[in-house]
Amino acid sequence: MAGGTGSRLSPLTNVTNKHLLPVYDEPMIYKVIRTLTNSGISDITIVLGGESVGDFIRLLGDGSEFQAHFNYVYQQRAGGIAEALFLTRKIIEGNKVAVILGDNIFEDSFDSELYEFKNSTDFECYLFLKEVEDPERFGVAELNEDGTIKSIEEKPKSPKTNYAVTGLYFYDENIFNVIKKVNKEIGYSKRDELEITDVNNYYIKNGKTKSVIIKGFWSDAGKFDTLLKSSNFIKSQKINKVK
Ligand code: G1P
Repeated sequence: MAGGTGSRLSPLTNVTNKHLLPVYDEPMIYKVIRTLTNSGISDITIVLGGESVGDFIRLLGDGSEFQAHFNYVYQQRAGGIAEALFLTRKIIEGNKVAVILGDNIFEDSFDSELYEFKNSTDFECYLFLKEVEDPERFGVAELNEDGTIKSIEEKPKSPKTNYAVTGLYFYDENIFNVIKKVNKEIGYSKRDELEITDVNNYYIKNGKTKSVIIKGFWSDAGKFDTLLKSSNFIKSQKINKVK
């Protein structure tokens, strides 16, 4: 998902898209695509928005540089992640899908979870959690005693836990019906977005959702300090590899 305005990074985003900004040595979107390809995904639909569409296509091409195949979809206005996902339905309908937000930098890859999800009929949705110090900036999961998710609150003032819901989601073939239901029953939020948190809460309530607490580094790179933190993390990884 590479739409959105990136207004929190202005003026860096005044003439380009957030996902094209550098995270240490590469454009942010490269890292995000690699999280997918390193997990074994090669069929990737990229949702773009705003004015830098030509730059994305010139940079990423058809995906062969990543041993992948890219499709592009255009989101006309910043209407939220669930809306962006709905726009891909003509391409994805009938398949399971992994969704990743274009500013989410993960250390881990998720090949074993993906294999499990692809081959299991037990779970309809996988959500990936990370303990953070500033949960109020994210979707926050409240957990049951057995570790399953009770519900998610989007950017709560008083978070019930420190578990942020990261921007990686696995959904079953029913995802587009779920988005339709959320649109009908809940609609757009106060920030005028069709919220992915409402989709996730629908799965938690009506389906079988698995939560995975991720081990490695995770950050969104959508603010100055988290962009820097992400760059510093990638730099430290490279230094460790050289040693
Ligand atoms: C979105 C989701 C939020 C999630 C976050 C992860 O927030 O709505 O639940 O925790 O991504 O980066 P946004 O970046 O749209 O504010």
